[in-house]
Amino acid sequence: MEFYLKTAKKRHWLLVLILFVISCYLPYLIFGAYPFANKTNATPDEVGLLTQNVSLPDFYQNNLDEITAKQRKLEEDAFTSWDGGKCRFCHSIKRDDRDRMAPNLYRILGKPAAVSQNFTYSSALIEMRKNGLIWTPETINAFISNPEDYIPGNRMRMEGIKDPKTRELIINYIERESQ
Ligand code: HEC
Repeated sequence: MEFYLKTAKKRHWLLVLILFVISCYLPYLIFGAYPFANKTNATPDEVGLLTQNVSLPDFYQNNLDEITAKQRKLEEDAFTSWDGGKCRFCHSIKRDDRDRMAPNLYRILGKPAAVSQNFTYSSALIEMRKNGLIWTPETINAFISNPEDYIPGNRMRMEGIKDPKTRELIINYIERESQ
């Protein structure tokens, strides 16, 4: 007992230290997030090289169909809500939004994979950039329907979205918010 009391203080500090280390690791473990990342993943020139031989539609010509407020709400809910894609939980989407624990998705359509700034990507996603993956409605659709299947070893901790209608709403929302 006496020995316990003598050494308790040290052990309590050790416990506090262990808890601190675990709590630093949890965001990575659960969400795949690296705090304080401030990396340049690709310069504008490098992005230009990655897209120079690819013919893509201009996703931002502002020629999307007008939609009703109800439809707009459906799209937003699909992106934000817990029953939908939960994308907003990890990703910001507005142009000047701060990065959340995942890259901002503003104007992601037409961009090569893994080129946003201030984010530490998994080597799986960086490999896909080198293999020429460009984000389009089709590739995003394939990715979010089964992330692990589409890019094995990626760090987006999300189950695939099985419902094609929800995926379509999400992708429409991403495009509309980027105009
Ligand atoms: C639990 C957090 C989380 C959720 C929920 C989530 N993502 Fe992600 N997402 C990430 C992380 C982390 C990465 C980076 C993955 C990597 O580096 O392997 C990522 C990467 C991406 C990328 C590639 C970005 C790039 O710059 O190459 C796209 C596109 C994407 N997510 C779309 C979505 C969409 C759409 C949804 C909703 C259906 C969604 N994500 C839900 C965390 C999340």
